[in-house]
Amino acid sequence: MLTNLWYVAEWSKAVKDKPVRAKLLGQNFVLFRDKSGKVNCLSDVCIHRGGSLSKGFTTKRDCVACPYHGWEFDAEGKVQFIPSRGEGAPIPERARIDAYPTEERYGMIWVFLGDLPEEERYPIPEFPEYEDKANWRAVDVEYSWTGSVDRVVENGIDIAHTSFVHPGFGYQEMADKNEILKVDRGEYWGSSDNVLYPPQLEGNFGLMKLFRADKAATYVSPAFYLPGHCVRLHIKVNSWMEMIIFDANTPVDETTTRSFAVQVRNFFKWPMFDNGAKKRTRKVFGEDGDIVAELSPNYLPESLEHEVSVEQDKFMSAWRMIRRKHIEEKGWKIDTKAMKPFEGEKVFTIPSPSRRTNPHFKWALDTVPLVPPTRRSAATQAEDSSAAEPA
Ligand code: FES
Ligand SMILES: [Fe+2]
Repeated sequence: MLTNLWYVAEWSKAVKDKPVRAKLLGQNFVLFRDKSGKVNCLSDVCIHRGGSLSKGFTTKRDCVACPYHGWEFDAEGKVQFIPSRGEGAPIPERARIDAYPTEERYGMIWVFLGDLPEEERYPIPEFPEYEDKANWRAVDVEYSWTGSVDRVVENGIDIAHTSFVHPGFGYQEMADKNEILKVDRGEYWGSSDNVLYPPQLEGNFGLMKLFRADKAATYVSPAFYLPGHCVRLHIKVNSWMEMIIFDANTPVDETTTRSFAVQVRNFFKWPMFDNGAKKRTRKVFGEDGDIVAELSPNYLPESLEHEVSVEQDKFMSAWRMIRRKHIEEKGWKIDTKAMKPFEGEKVFTIPSPSRRTNPHFKWALDTVPLVPPTRRSAATQAEDSSAAEPA
């Protein structure tokens, strides 16, 4: 599991006037709205005696109050009021917990779980079709996986499995006809274009069958993004019908993943077709979920030596390489093994941006251990060598 990325913590509609608990990266967080409607995200551990803030309540000070002794924490994680001391009493300086940047987009609450300053954060992936209500109709679907987020993302961008896992989207005997036409990748994303030869689409009261011949060439473009561990799957059903499934895949813990998916379509935009769209998207997740739950190991092997790849896996390999680069060069991977001996004895927290801006502050909680980087980035090497050059 990687820090220093935006992740989706919850649907916007799920956070109203009460605090809500969200579990990401193996840690608990509390989400709460202030009076302006802005959603805030704090570590869910009260540094008084360990109360769970998500079981508390919001207050007139625009704070979230701990249910144990009522200490009130503001949007920055600072304690504003200690009821046992009374109004106006000084607050201990260390009475502060980590607060994380938040954004609401695509009906989802995004939280930045890391300590990078704003200008260094990778952006939330774009999904312009979601905003374009005139041309696209959106439905949302949620799915919970037994499986690591890395395996889930890999599954989402893999074309070869469609012939075997999704009877609605591929024929086993056509597996060798699926073709990767193009692969592109950047620092934190990858995209590919593919052609598939699926059966006629089911659903929409049998109407779908009218619009594409059996085994007609169909263009499918999956993309992945490190922020949100998002997968965007663009399917061109025919020359005028397109759909996109955009899913943010949240690592709840090492073996559980929660997908927040929005499917948009540019055809049959009336609400009467929404349920069918949801049902079919859920079915696809279920078909994938059954396979992913049985993968061994449950997480991605760190070395490619333990698995065998072929040419048709090259887009999945792009995902693995980008992910590994951020582990080996940036040191963003949480060292869950190093935390195991402390289970039940000690609480860790994800470092928030304030830890960098207040380096001398004595935070009550220690941050999660990270796997140290094992190699230097090309940029760092170039900087070092130019510094070493004589002026
Ligand atoms: S444990 Fe939270 S106020 Fe005491
Ligand atoms: Fe799939």
